[in-house]
Amino acid sequence: VTIHALFTSDLSVIPEQTQITLQTFSVQRDARNFAHPDAFLPQRWLRSEPSGAALTPHNIAAFLPFSHGSTACAGRHLAMLEMRVVLAWLVQRFDLAFAREGVEGDQWEDGLRDFYIMRKGSMFVNIRPRC
Ligand code: HEM
Repeated sequence: VTIHALFTSDLSVIPEQTQITLQTFSVQRDARNFAHPDAFLPQRWLRSEPSGAALTPHNIAAFLPFSHGSTACAGRHLAMLEMRVVLAWLVQRFDLAFAREGVEGDQWEDGLRDFYIMRKGSMFVNIRPRC
């Protein structure tokens, strides 16, 4: 939520107290933020490695899986730690391969769907005729 009015790069005005949301997948797959954004290049995150550092742009501020600001994920450090532990445990013990012949990882993305909606739960009520 904006505290003050903001000006965008094309000088449009976003008034104060405006809630701004953005679709993080698109931001993270934008070539203005990450080089070869659709390519699986894990070395891009190894900034101390020459091969990783060569991949520019590399706008770490545009990596937003846990959101940003005062309402960002409170468990992000624990989540990252857990994912590292689970991934290391898996690759140390198992070989992984795509199960369906001819199906590669890039096709998996065709099935991605993003829903920014609220799903409501059930509400059970008893209705009796009034006396
Ligand atoms: C891969 C794992 C996770 C992802 C991608 C993730 C992502 C997110 C995102 C996007 C939000 C919303 C932030 C916002 O509204 O701006 C959030 C909120 C939150 N997450 Fe996570 N989260 C993960 C794991 C966890 C774990 C493991 C915990 C707790 C142990 C946790 C605790 C919370 C809490 C408490 C909030 C609410 C923060 C607030 O509103 O102040 N998350 N998370």
